Amino acid sequence: MSTSTTKRSGPLAPGVAFVTGGARGLGNAIAVSFAREGARGVVIVDINPETLSEGKKTVEAYGTPCLAVQADVTKEEDVERAIAEAVKEFGRIDYAANFAGILGPLTATYETTLESFQKGMAVNSTGVFLCTKHEIIQMMKQDSIEVEEGRVPQRGAIVNCASLNSQMSIAGSVAYTTSKHAVMGITKTAALEVREHHIRVNAISPGFLLTNLLTPIVGTEGGVPIEAWNALEARQGRSAKFEEVGDVAVLITSPRMSLVNGANLFVDGGFSISEA
Ligand SMILES: NC(=O)c1ccc[n+]([C@@H]2O[C@H](COP(=O)([O-])OP(=O)(O)OC[C@H]3O[C@@H](n4cnc5c(N)ncnc54)[C@H](O)[C@@H]3O)[C@@H](O)[C@H]2O)c1
Repeated sequence: MSTSTTKRSGPLAPGVAFVTGGARGLGNAIAVSFAREGARGVVIVDINPETLSEGKKTVEAYGTPCLAVQADVTKEEDVERAIAEAVKEFGRIDYAANFAGILGPLTATYETTLESFQKGMAVNSTGVFLCTKHEIIQMMKQDSIEVEEGRVPQRGAIVNCASLNSQMSIAGSVAYTTSKHAVMGITKTAALEVREHHIRVNAISPGFLLTNLLTPIVGTEGGVPIEAWNALEARQGRSAKFEEVGDVAVLITSPRMSLVNGANLFVDGGFSISEA
């Protein structure tokens, strides 16, 4: 037990954050949350060069240095390069959030092409695998970030993006649902492998947030009717704000969460425990 009687002070996340899918949506909200919690550097990684520069500005608005790296998380050489650029700029990676993702095909299993299935898996699962792998390799080279007296060291912490679809499903989501189940396989396995190295690996499962991932299919012709979306939000209790996911990513990668490892934290207002 800690013998220190000093009250806590200082930033919650003083280290360096590395966020994939960081150009917009939930990834960008995470990058901003790290900036607001005092990160000394934030790296945003995304495939889209246009949204990257906008995403970088939202982080820099907090006075936080931000490195934007264009990379495709499905390509191992891109992931290795992104991490190398992050380390070159800031020296290390303390918190990694793997949030690059796509919806993939919204077709019945028996109508889904192999190519579209593999595309969904490539971004949401293989991308998370590659990022987790190379983030761990980097974190194992590092010493611990400063932790409170009496607490275990933390050489790095990773949070992967799962989804309600990591446990549940909906018709017409075979690639997305399979890919998000796989995120938990990656998360749990890595969590057990690296705990002895003082690295933690967890996942977050956001509820329903109207990001650009979903705007093309909500309330549009042939998509999810607005009444159905409203019903999903009602089960969640209310509309959610992107920063409510961003802040959880910061908290779960903090050394104060030292015994939380391999978890899947639902950030869904109670959607997953509601019968109505
Ligand atoms: N919005 C929700 O309700 C919700 C719920 C649960 C989980 N999620 C997950 O949250 C994550 C972020 O999604 P979002 O809702 O913010 O959507 P979004 O489309 O706004 O953000 C996804 C980002 O990932 C990037 N990206 C896509 N493919 C990439 C690749 N190959 N390499 C690098 N970057 C790539 C996109 O360019 C985009 O900036 C996804 O994994 C998604 O599955 C979202």
